[in-house]
Amino acid sequence: MIDTIKEYLEEVEKFTATSIEEIERFRVKYLGKKGVLSEFFAAFKNVPTDQKKEFGQVINQLKTRATEKVNHLKDSLETNSLPSGKYGDLTRPGEPLPLGARHPIAIVKNQIIEIFSRIGFNVSEGPEIEDDWHNFSALNLPEHHPARDMQDTFFIQTHPDILLRTHTSSVQVRYMEKHQPPIRTISPGKVYRNEAISARSHCFFHQVEGLYVDRDVSFADLKQTLQYFTTEMFGKSKIRLRPSYFPFTEPSAELDVYWGLTNEIDYRITKGTGWLEIGGCGMVDPNVLANCKIDPEEYSGFAFGVGIDRIAMLLYQIPDIRMLSENDVRFLEQFKSSL
Ligand code: DAH
Repeated sequence: MIDTIKEYLEEVEKFTATSIEEIERFRVKYLGKKGVLSEFFAAFKNVPTDQKKEFGQVINQLKTRATEKVNHLKDSLETNSLPSGKYGDLTRPGEPLPLGARHPIAIVKNQIIEIFSRIGFNVSEGPEIEDDWHNFSALNLPEHHPARDMQDTFFIQTHPDILLRTHTSSVQVRYMEKHQPPIRTISPGKVYRNEAISARSHCFFHQVEGLYVDRDVSFADLKQTLQYFTTEMFGKSKIRLRPSYFPFTEPSAELDVYWGLTNEIDYRITKGTGWLEIGGCGMVDPNVLANCKIDPEEYSGFAFGVGIDRIAMLLYQIPDIRMLSENDVRFLEQFKSSL
């Protein structure tokens, strides 16, 4: 019987095939359920004990060689069947590339830019590392002014002061220094404050500053513009302007949107009032215009600043501001279907 197996072995070594069907027939003959090998394995128990060892070795050899032959022939058939040409088969499916997602801050920022661009606002930017003049002094916040303490500042250098901007209002100054009215611009960007980090506040976040300067600009224009914005952004047109104080605007107001009290979340985010504060605004102080070489006798303007992070948290129900800067892919991936 051993000789028969050896003959089979020779046959296996010699075998070649040009089609997958031939290979399959070969596989069934040797390795199939009713194939040569299973017959030999079945016969194993009747082999005299002194021949068992050699018998075992040759059938195992036959099994290995037959399996290798099948795999080898299949491989070479596949390789040969690849279309020739520099790039191979151009109809093959591509490697899947993981798709990224926009960051929620970018989504909200783009939405705000889009909403204001529809009413003629352009986009302007300024540096995150600022000097004292653009972040404070020009904005009617001279040295030792108590209102400087409203925003805890990260200083990079003192005398002369170089700092991380505490608000995007610094871009107002830079823009007015370079442009005469009419001015309609929004300035989105990062801002920094030396504050303890918690679920609700961070040492860096994002704002959008808005500035409108022209002849005869009034508080009514400001209100209309903000109302347009909240309607487009949140689908809510009821707003409230609460008297407030900012050194760079006079009069100044805090902007609240009526969010409503339909569900439990509304109660939580509005602290049960239905109203939500989203930013500050006011009429640009004549001192600020004069500091930027714009004649306050001829021109007036309004300005506003809103927090992007707060809006993103609100719209996407993000419970902790820190999630916005941790870059956890599991968090970021959730925004794949957004803008
Ligand atoms: N700069 C203010 C802040 O960061 C926000 C602000 C308030 C901006 C009133 C303005 C404004 O332009 O008119 O808290």
